[in-house]
Amino acid sequence: MASEGFDIKRGLKDVYFDTTEASFIDGDVGKLLYRGYNIHDLAEKATFEEIVYLLLYGDLPNQRQLDDFNVEFRGSRSIPEEVINVLRVVKDCHPMDALRTGISALSAFDPDVTDNSIEATRRKGIRLTAQAPTIVAAHHRIRNGLDPVAPNPGLNHAGNFLYMLRGAEPTEDENRLIDVDFVLHAEHGANASAFGARVVASTLSDLHSAVVTGVAVLKGPWHGGAAEEVMKMALDIGQPENAEEYARKLLDSGGRVMGFGHRVYKAEDPRARHLRERSQRLGQEKGQPHWFQILTYLEQNVMAPYRDRGIFVNVDFFAGSIYYLLEIPDDLFIPIFALGRIPGWTLQCMEQYSDNILLRPLLEYTGEMDLEYVPIDQR
Ligand code: CMC
Repeated sequence: MASEGFDIKRGLKDVYFDTTEASFIDGDVGKLLYRGYNIHDLAEKATFEEIVYLLLYGDLPNQRQLDDFNVEFRGSRSIPEEVINVLRVVKDCHPMDALRTGISALSAFDPDVTDNSIEATRRKGIRLTAQAPTIVAAHHRIRNGLDPVAPNPGLNHAGNFLYMLRGAEPTEDENRLIDVDFVLHAEHGANASAFGARVVASTLSDLHSAVVTGVAVLKGPWHGGAAEEVMKMALDIGQPENAEEYARKLLDSGGRVMGFGHRVYKAEDPRARHLRERSQRLGQEKGQPHWFQILTYLEQNVMAPYRDRGIFVNVDFFAGSIYYLLEIPDDLFIPIFALGRIPGWTLQCMEQYSDNILLRPLLEYTGEMDLEYVPIDQR
């Protein structure tokens, strides 16, 4: 056994590997800034379109800049018929797998695919952000035996996504709920999927490959998959009075309550606040207040002692209930997170390309050493 006693940072906990201007996170107080702007202001006042511009161009747009940007952004939503055909072939897979496959297929049609300049990466990031909802909506309709709905250039990003999914325009409230959700998910430092995307970019591979990786990494239940798991748990619990017993059993058997805990936040995830209020209001409006009551019971009772260990609700805890109340199927919850996150992955790749260094850490070898090769007939 070779063991040199290296200082191993398992899970890369607390490791800084580069600098960024994308977002600032203070996990001790629960503070999040996108390019210097507080998430609380952005969630309440900004649209997703402004956030995409802010992240990819470096500052909030004025009206003329936003109008020009929207012409490009809304005009990029269509996907080639060949990609729709690929989605037909994979129609039975999980929507996250369809999104990953669809983005991969789009690379065959993007004129800038091999150009890793900052300008081309930004153009591709805008296109991918615009096209990804079309993939998710088209796949969802195909798997339900319906024809895909063409994008509607008269609608904003969030509204157009719901329109392509359902074939009918959403209400203003539904539109804003998804818009805020996209805003809250747009960028979040060196989280696992952004790190995965940066590793890809660091080999000078292209943005489509990096975004495919981002989608693949996000899929796991310890990352983007938590919202789906939270709602499954709430459905299993059924009524607030069952929450205590259910969660105790889960925790006593070594399980985790999804939607709690975060590698960086040791206070409440600042994004959760905006979804908590909306989950409560939507539940009342829809005559289904019990989902919020179940979640609140878990938060305020079962998980209260965990606060001393720095475990609070994260962004995913209330998100699932909002999607559920909007009648969005649970396997679309993670793709919705991904749709919001593409600008963040793009920006992080732009940062990586602009001052690149290969991301390549080390593993300490703990296996056998210098074994003698034994011919196969003598083993
Ligand atoms: N429920 C119960 N115990 C928990 C939870 C939880 N949700 N999260 C962490 N713990 C415990 C964990 O069991 C461990 O206990 P012990 O020290 O006794 O072994 C301790 O807290 C530390 O956990 P860890 O896994 O070492 O901490 P981490 O910083 O690596 O974990 C996490 C971060 C997100 C993987 C974890 O909190 C978790 O699994 N949460 C549930 C999944 C979830 O909600 N994910 C969404 C994250 S936010 C959205 C995103 O950015 O992806």
